[in-house]
Amino acid sequence: MEKKENKFEDREKLTSKIDTLLEGFEIKDEKGYEEKSSSNVETGFGEIDLEEIKEIHKNNVPSDSQSEQKGFGYKGLGSRRIYYNKDIDEYIYEVIEPDLSDSEKELLEKLVYLFGVSADIDVSGFKEVEKNQYLENALEKIIIDNHIEISNDTKDRIFYHIFQDFIGYGKIDIFMHDIGIEDISCDGTNSPVFIYHKDLESIRTNVVFNDSDELDNFVVKLAQICNKQISVYNPIVDGKLEDGSRLSVTLSKTVTRDSNFTIRRFREEPLTPIDLIDSNTLSLDMAAYFWLAIQYNSSILFCGGTASGKTTSLNALALFIPYSHKIVSIEDTREVNLPHENWIAGTTRTGFSQAEESKSGKDIDMFDLTRAALRQRPKVIIVGEVRGREAYTLFQAMTTGHLSYSTVHAGDIRTLIQRLESPPISLPRSLLTALDAVVFMNSVSVDQKPVRRFTSVTEIIKLDSGSNRLITFTPFSWFSESDVFNMEDGSRIFQRIKSENSWSDKEFEKEFENRKKVLSWMLNNNRRSYKDVAKIISQYYKNPSSVLEKIEEDGL
Ligand SMILES: Nc1ncnc2c1ncn2[C@@H]1O[C@H](COP(=O)(O)OP(=O)(O)O)[C@@H](O)[C@H]1O
Ligand SMILES: [Mg+2]
Repeated sequence: MEKKENKFEDREKLTSKIDTLLEGFEIKDEKGYEEKSSSNVETGFGEIDLEEIKEIHKNNVPSDSQSEQKGFGYKGLGSRRIYYNKDIDEYIYEVIEPDLSDSEKELLEKLVYLFGVSADIDVSGFKEVEKNQYLENALEKIIIDNHIEISNDTKDRIFYHIFQDFIGYGKIDIFMHDIGIEDISCDGTNSPVFIYHKDLESIRTNVVFNDSDELDNFVVKLAQICNKQISVYNPIVDGKLEDGSRLSVTLSKTVTRDSNFTIRRFREEPLTPIDLIDSNTLSLDMAAYFWLAIQYNSSILFCGGTASGKTTSLNALALFIPYSHKIVSIEDTREVNLPHENWIAGTTRTGFSQAEESKSGKDIDMFDLTRAALRQRPKVIIVGEVRGREAYTLFQAMTTGHLSYSTVHAGDIRTLIQRLESPPISLPRSLLTALDAVVFMNSVSVDQKPVRRFTSVTEIIKLDSGSNRLITFTPFSWFSESDVFNMEDGSRIFQRIKSENSWSDKEFEKEFENRKKVLSWMLNNNRRSYKDVAKIISQYYKNPSSVLEKIEEDGL
């Protein structure tokens, strides 16, 4: 606490200093500073040559092919290349950054030291450009004030590293700016940092943390970026980085020998049902099924292993939720992203107390949020991941007319039931019947490429009171050999929709076909962005014939 106050004091004192440093800026408004075109800080990066990578992967034979991308970091001095290493029969992701001689390293340390004593302001509220400009001005000023002789070339290479450490993500900064990377993980010292590339899966990099102090400091820094404290008392931290990526770190000598971290990268533009159809994650029939099921009040649970695509699919199918429905979402870290206006997003808050037993009034967990959510009278409750006692409240809510979409870590129905019935979830089996359907997701390999598939969709029919067994029906299942989905007649959800709307079989069939038409039209006309899909679906809800007419006009 004391430390914090001091920091504020320092900040006050430094205001005038900052003013001088920010001289290159025009103040636009209270929130920020306008970017000046004279800024010579370049942090952009060029087009990634994914086609080339895909080609490499498709052939999947050792070759000298490599894919290079330049333009990372300060003045674009960093680059990376991905190449196939024949010796170890693996792809390597190589980060290439400006080298520094020993004397240049000394100079770097001197500059960092002088920067440290001259300005200790918190730039966390600054925008990227502001931070860059602030740092560059500060360093230039230090060089002039201290009469440091330095060539432009050396200066740029030194600045590259200072920028990376102060503003970027240090050694992993290039990974954080490479759009092909989905995951970054480091299991400890002296072993390479691995990345998960969207086309090449898990590949090793040439980035290594050599000593444990360096790695400890690094994970502490990552935790700080998420505004979380990490210590021997609280050695495991989950959080969200500035760009929305999810961080998970463990501090050394506690539960693991070395510190480690995993970063799940944030996807800017959420996938839509059209993207899922296009990648054959589900079939057109299935998308139409979910559209009807979700419109007509079905609760759905997405199951699967880690990174099988549960959250992504939940988010994509949530586009089918009618726009007037009030939605409350509950998550540990914000992942769900909806176009709905009547949506309240809640995230848990931890890290205020050190241990679970001493959960203070300040910590807010899923259970608290679920109960709070119900007081807000939502029609739909979305729970990022069901893990604990909040499940009971959630399932009870479903039995009283709320709709719910959530994810659970479970590979098949047996494991699912087991997980839901055992502590800490401890759900009575009878409550499981509140669910209408369970989607099982898998990350599988098709043509040696990693893809996501809805491996089955299972409807929960009822609990057989005699045998205490859950009676289920599986309208869709995926065949791995042919990579196609089978549709079985007899969906209980369809039957319910038919009777609720008093539709004949024919009327229902027509509606099902219409939905498929709309979805195929979006696919064929490349209307797949989140905004486009949301617009077309809401238009269909308001006035289906206007959408169908337009499609007829256009032709499929
Ligand atoms: N259908 C899909 N097609 C392509 N990539 C996907 C698909 N579903 C998920 N992904 C990607 O897989 C990763 C893990 O997805 P996520 O939904 O977070 O998994 P989970 O919630 O099961 O842990 C993300 O990087 C996401 O972008
Ligand atoms: Mg998830």
